[in-house]
Amino acid sequence: MQKGQHNIMARRLTETELVLASHNKGKLVEIAALVEPLGYKVISAGDLGLPEPEETGSTYRENAELKAKAAALASGKPALSDDSGLSVSALGGAPGIYSARWAGPDKDFDAAMRRVADALLMTGQYDRDAKFICALSLCWPDGHIETFEGQVSGTICWPARGDRGFGYDPIFIPTGHDITFGEMDPDAKHAMSHRADAFRQLLAACLS
Ligand code: IMP
Repeated sequence: MQKGQHNIMARRLTETELVLASHNKGKLVEIAALVEPLGYKVISAGDLGLPEPEETGSTYRENAELKAKAAALASGKPALSDDSGLSVSALGGAPGIYSARWAGPDKDFDAAMRRVADALLMTGQYDRDAKFICALSLCWPDGHIETFEGQVSGTICWPARGDRGFGYDPIFIPTGHDITFGEMDPDAKHAMSHRADAFRQLLAACLS
């Protein structure tokens, strides 16, 4: 189906409570900001004491679906999950689905951003094109899943700039702008992000 097209086959969400199947605080804040204004009450998987499933998928979609499914089955409520990452063209799409893992167990994103910059230097290419990609999955307790994929294009800059946002935001300049997501007003980022793109599709297809 083309992006932006209304998916009349998708199941619509009639429940008003949603579990957010993420343990990443940055993502929780951004997803809650998208769904709460629509009247949904959100509970985080962490607050319900649900374990974080291992991300064994080989795509954003597979990982988003396994996280949403685990939370929906364990909680008995519809669950929304996001799997996302930074894909750098000259690095063959890395860090990609391993974006969180590049930061290591201490979640050291200064080190992860430096690793991206060093890897880009090593390529000897001038290509700085990158994308943030997001798969958003909504799973019902009966196992039915709807998944939507969004992205935002941009370029990698170095050194990192700005202390807003999270993860790789300080090295990502979205196309058409001259500041990084780390320097940008959060509302401006939320309006153009990969998560917002996926969310617009979810909204059109499943939410009222
Ligand atoms: P996962 O989806 O939990 O595997 O983690 C995705 C990782 O991608 C995050 O830990 C961040 O490093 C990165 N990421 C995803 N979305 C964003 C974003 O909006 N800004 C910056 N980094 C992001």
